[in-house]
Amino acid sequence: MLRSNLCCLFVLGLSSVPVALAQQAVRPTASGLTATSDGVTLEVTALQADKLRIREWRSAPPEDASWAVLSASRTSRATVTADSNGFHTSQLSVEVGSDLHLVIRDHEGHILQEDSTPAQWRGDGFHIYKKRGDNEHFFGLGDKPGPLDRAGQEFTMWNTDDFGWQESADPIYKSVPFFMDVKDGRSFGVLFDNTWRTSFDFGRESAQEYNFGSQGGPVDYYFLYGPEPKQVMAAYAWLTGPAPLPPLWSFGFQQSRYTYNPESQLLDVAAHLRKDKIPADALWLDIDFQKDNMPFTVDSVRFPKFPEMVQQLAKDHFHLIVIADTHIADKPNIGYAPYDSGTAGDHFLKNPDGTTYVGKVWPGDSVFPDYTQARTRKWFGTLYKDFVAQGVAGFWDDMNEPAVFRYPSKTMPLDTQHRIDEPGFAKRTTSHNEVHNIYGLLNSQASYEGVLALRPNERPYVMTRASYAGGHRYAVTWTGDNSSTWNHLRMTVPQLANLGMSGFSFAGADVGGFAGSPPPDLLTKWLEIAAFQPIDRDHSAKGTRMHEPWVDGPEQEAIRKHYIEERYRLLPYLYTVAEETSRDGMPMVRPLFMQYPHATADGSPVDLITGGAEFMLGPDMLIAPNPSPEEVAQYELHLPPGAWYDYWTGARAGVGTGGQARDAEVRDALLESKRIMLTPELATLPVYVRGGAILPMQPLVQSTDETPSGPLTLRVYLPTAGGTCNGSVYTDDGHSLNYRNGEYFRMNATCATEADGSISVSLGAVEGRYKPWFKQLRIEVLGSQQTLQQATIDGKATPIQSSNGFVSITTAVNPRGSRISLR
Ligand code: NOJ
Repeated sequence: MLRSNLCCLFVLGLSSVPVALAQQAVRPTASGLTATSDGVTLEVTALQADKLRIREWRSAPPEDASWAVLSASRTSRATVTADSNGFHTSQLSVEVGSDLHLVIRDHEGHILQEDSTPAQWRGDGFHIYKKRGDNEHFFGLGDKPGPLDRAGQEFTMWNTDDFGWQESADPIYKSVPFFMDVKDGRSFGVLFDNTWRTSFDFGRESAQEYNFGSQGGPVDYYFLYGPEPKQVMAAYAWLTGPAPLPPLWSFGFQQSRYTYNPESQLLDVAAHLRKDKIPADALWLDIDFQKDNMPFTVDSVRFPKFPEMVQQLAKDHFHLIVIADTHIADKPNIGYAPYDSGTAGDHFLKNPDGTTYVGKVWPGDSVFPDYTQARTRKWFGTLYKDFVAQGVAGFWDDMNEPAVFRYPSKTMPLDTQHRIDEPGFAKRTTSHNEVHNIYGLLNSQASYEGVLALRPNERPYVMTRASYAGGHRYAVTWTGDNSSTWNHLRMTVPQLANLGMSGFSFAGADVGGFAGSPPPDLLTKWLEIAAFQPIDRDHSAKGTRMHEPWVDGPEQEAIRKHYIEERYRLLPYLYTVAEETSRDGMPMVRPLFMQYPHATADGSPVDLITGGAEFMLGPDMLIAPNPSPEEVAQYELHLPPGAWYDYWTGARAGVGTGGQARDAEVRDALLESKRIMLTPELATLPVYVRGGAILPMQPLVQSTDETPSGPLTLRVYLPTAGGTCNGSVYTDDGHSLNYRNGEYFRMNATCATEADGSISVSLGAVEGRYKPWFKQLRIEVLGSQQTLQQATIDGKATPIQSSNGFVSITTAVNPRGSRISLR
């Protein structure tokens, strides 16, 4: 079918040849359409029924390749039905009007996205304008600081080393040109896959519009329909690939500093953690462990027994992560292998005149790997050989925006030459303009794949500072050089939530703040909140006061230790949530609307009420830090609908005040999910658990190497009358890739309150072949309205234990599942 239009005139026919005289010709394709108007071609392709790819060009179609999108997803095609206005799939309808006016609707006819004006072209650049509704909100865009909701703001994507960035700073380290749009309770995602300097305006220029554009590169974006936010996350994971499951130890407490040295200082920190019984799993070495800050070297004066030190730390159950900046010191003729082998292999970036580009970073003059060549990434990956052989557990890809000192731009000149030599791409040379934003992604890809090749079947652990969409396939990340202020502590929540919605679920902020020295209470509060965030890594800058948990005396240390310990008790839950990320892209830190998209009458995200201060860790835990953390005044708590429990006391409708349930009025208000007031206390972080959750927990350990002694706990938080509950526990060996071949353990559980007040808990059959550390399960039941006195497991009576308001029974893990009844 063919449609052409000239100002509202539709001509229908059977030919596939556009009508030449018309201004606009619309031609169906096997999975969508192309339309041409005034020399501009629009192509809309349905990859799946709920996922579209939209491209536009003026002369010839741009190269069809991507660093972000998986080729299998990019080339996927859905069946569509052409109609008089465009086409529809089983989920979406696409209409193209005159001037290539694009409208995407759901099947009920709701407009999800509509052009407001035709694309604007200026030189090589362009902007795409969409209409914006009154109740339209925007999330994602990676690590950009500022409020959770991006509405009303504009942003630039240009990876930038921004030491000491502040709330309004933009751009900072990462470019993740993906956003989730929540409009009247319906969500969709947009990935604008353009690696050049791009910009997004979510209603700043005009409240009725939002736009995105670039200085160059292709008009190439993907529309990922929800309508639920979780479906958008799953769609983004389908498009760009999920983040691989990190090793279990990386969810333990991590201690870092710029830089522990000499060797004895690092060993002292390790010993102190163990002496004070502060659970910990990882220690980090920053650039001063290297000889003259040259990546891939060790300073043999300050670290005379480096391999032995790594072994000693491993014996004490510490994983060591070392920094490996992206630049290579420009040091010929001194036996510096990375430089020598890189030069011999022609692996460094060039100036336009063909000479090697040299810029200054930590070691002084440095050269930079040309990562858009697959063979250069492979070479870079081999540089990890010695560290891997010595047992170094993880690697830290820093300065990979790439950061270059002395230029006001903080990076290399834009005419620096990159050679693209990559399967799926045309072989060509391009300027830094095109590659800048993917440089960090490709650096981390080189590291991830290199370490995997050196240690096959072990999960690589790489942390990167800069990245682009899809970079989560290779590395976890952190928020760079934040500051030791209360406001920076507050900002960790929206920043990690938006990173999570951008694919980077595995992310953290420097605990205590990097720049500056946190006062004791700030460091304590930060350690409390970070205990409930995906990566709990304490890091600090040179010249600042030390940050370790003990530095402010026993009282502060006791509080800090208590929260780190709680994180370790929750490791089974954290790991179960992390595994979900690796399957369906659901972030660990979630804004409330992700779990409760319909909590408000008008479909606006419920987080707009909380100001984005509260967050969920996985599906079941709600953390409610003070939205103004330095304030002593009371603050308002908002709980989504349903029953909630105080995590600390287990009391139904209790308020997290470190063990003291509040008065009846407050409890009732909480039960009815009315807003209530919390009083800030240094030692308390209010944490709640969803009624209907089943939380897996374990006995305290000092590191993830230690086998917990005792059963795995499944804490059942009963739902409101008539409700059901569900939960699961996932585990595996924590370090290898065997889980991909069935070596894992997963058990789902449900519960219900029966009409006679009795409670049933069903443990599902065990999935997977992995034999976990626990042989027994302790089922704790919270929130029963009656005193539970009898229990049966698969019909056989079993004793009930009761202590501190926690009623429990213990049972062996039954691979076929079991049914427990309590009355
Ligand atoms: C910059 C990084 O952001 C910071 O975390 C690190 O400590 C310094 N580089 C020194 O390597």
